[in-house]
Amino acid sequence: MTDKVTPFSVTISGASGPYRVLVGRGLLDSLASLLEEYAPAHRYALVSDSNVGPLYGEPTILRLKDAGLNAELFTFEAGERNKNRTTWSDLTDRLLAAGFGRDSCLIAMGGGVTGDLGGFVAATYMRGIPVVQVPTSLVAMIDASIGGKTGVDVGAGKNLVGAFHAPNLVVADPDVVATLPRAERAQGMIEAVKHGAIMDEAYFTELEREMQAILDGEAAPLERAVARSVELKSGVVSEDEREAGRREILNFGHTLGHAIEAACSFRVPHGTAVACGMILEARLGVSLGVTGPDVVERLERVVESVGLPSGIPKGAAPGDIMTYLASDKKVRHGRARFVLLSRIGAVHVADDSWSQPVDESTVVDLVNAFVSRG
Ligand SMILES: NC(=O)c1ccc[n+]([C@@H]2O[C@H](COP(=O)([O-])OP(=O)(O)OC[C@H]3O[C@@H](n4cnc5c(N)ncnc54)[C@H](O)[C@@H]3O)[C@@H](O)[C@H]2O)c1
Ligand SMILES: [Zn+2]
Repeated sequence: MTDKVTPFSVTISGASGPYRVLVGRGLLDSLASLLEEYAPAHRYALVSDSNVGPLYGEPTILRLKDAGLNAELFTFEAGERNKNRTTWSDLTDRLLAAGFGRDSCLIAMGGGVTGDLGGFVAATYMRGIPVVQVPTSLVAMIDASIGGKTGVDVGAGKNLVGAFHAPNLVVADPDVVATLPRAERAQGMIEAVKHGAIMDEAYFTELEREMQAILDGEAAPLERAVARSVELKSGVVSEDEREAGRREILNFGHTLGHAIEAACSFRVPHGTAVACGMILEARLGVSLGVTGPDVVERLERVVESVGLPSGIPKGAAPGDIMTYLASDKKVRHGRARFVLLSRIGAVHVADDSWSQPVDESTVVDLVNAFVSRG
C-alpha cells in the first residue's frame, strides 16, 4: 500500500460549474478513487499519445480495471502535427466503434497536445461528455490543462478550431516529470516564469533560485512550482473564463512570441519564442517609461538559467515578425496591444486596460535593434 498523498488543491469557478485541480506526487496511484468521486461514469476512454500511452496509460488502465472501473486505452501518434482534425475524427470513430455512450468519460493523459485534442474529442462527442485532464508534461500541468480551452490546429493556423470545455477534474502528478525530456521541462518553465513575472515577485525569485533543481527534476521544488503556477493561472481563469478582461495578462510575451514563432514557420518551440517575446516586451515597457530597469536583466538571466537563448532566433526576419504582428487579432487602428510590466510581479494597468496600444514604429525600432545585436 502506498501512503495516501494529501494533494494541493485549487477550485476553479468555471461558467459550467466549479472544478478542482489537484497537484501531488503519486496522485496517479489514486486515480481510480478520484474518478469515482469527481467523474463517475459507466466507461472511461483514456486518450494518450504514443509516448505517454506505454509509459503511463497502460499501467493506469490496469489499475483502473483492478479497481473495478471499465476503462480502455486509445493512443495516437505523438506530436503537434497530429493535433488536427484527422486525429480528432479517427479518435471519435474509434470511440463510436467501441460503443462508448453518453454516460462515458474521457481521460486526456499526456502533454498539451493530448489535453487539447482529447478535450476537443470530449467536447464534441455526442454533444459533449465529461473530460478529466491528467497532464504529464510541465507545459500541460502549468498551463494547458487549466482553463478549459480545447481544440486542434488547421491549415490556416494553430488552435483555430475548438471549444471551451472545462474538465470535471485535473490531476497533476509531478512524479511523471521524471521521464519528460529536459528540453520539454525547459519549455514548461518558461510559462512558470511568465506567471511569476506578471503576478508574483516572490514566486519569480523562487524560480530564479530553484531553476536548476526544478529542471533536474528535484521533487520538492518541482512540486512547489507546479502548485504555485496552477494556483496563479487558476485565479486568473476563475475570474475571467472567456478572456474578456484580466485573463489578457497571460498574453505577456505572447504578442511578439507568436509573431516570432510564425516568422520562423514554427521551427522554434513555443516556449523559446515566448522567452524572447517576454524580454522584448519588457524592453518595450522600458522604452515607453513604464517598466522598471531591472526587469529586462532579471528576465534575461532567468531565461538563460532555463537554458534557452534570449535573442531573436535566427531565421526570424524583422519584416516577417512585423507582418505577423499586424495580423494579430489584438491589433486595433494599426496599433498592436501589449501586456507591459510595471515591475517583476505586476502588470502595468492604464485606461482600465491590462494591455496597451503601441505605435508600429516603436516596435519596429525595438525589433531591429534587437536583431542587429544578435
Ligand atoms: N489549452 C491551452 O490553454 C493551452 C495552453 C498552452 C499550450 N497548449 C497546447 O499545448 C501543446 C504543447 O504542449 P506540450 O509541450 O506538452 O506538447 P506535447 O503534448 O507534444 O508533449 C511534448 C512531448 O513530451 C512527451 N511527453 C509528455 N509527457 C511526458 C512524460 N511524462 N514523459 C515522457 N514524455 C512525455 C509527449 O509525448 C511529446 O512528445 C500545444 O499544442 C499548445 O497549443 C494549450
Ligand atoms: Zn504560451
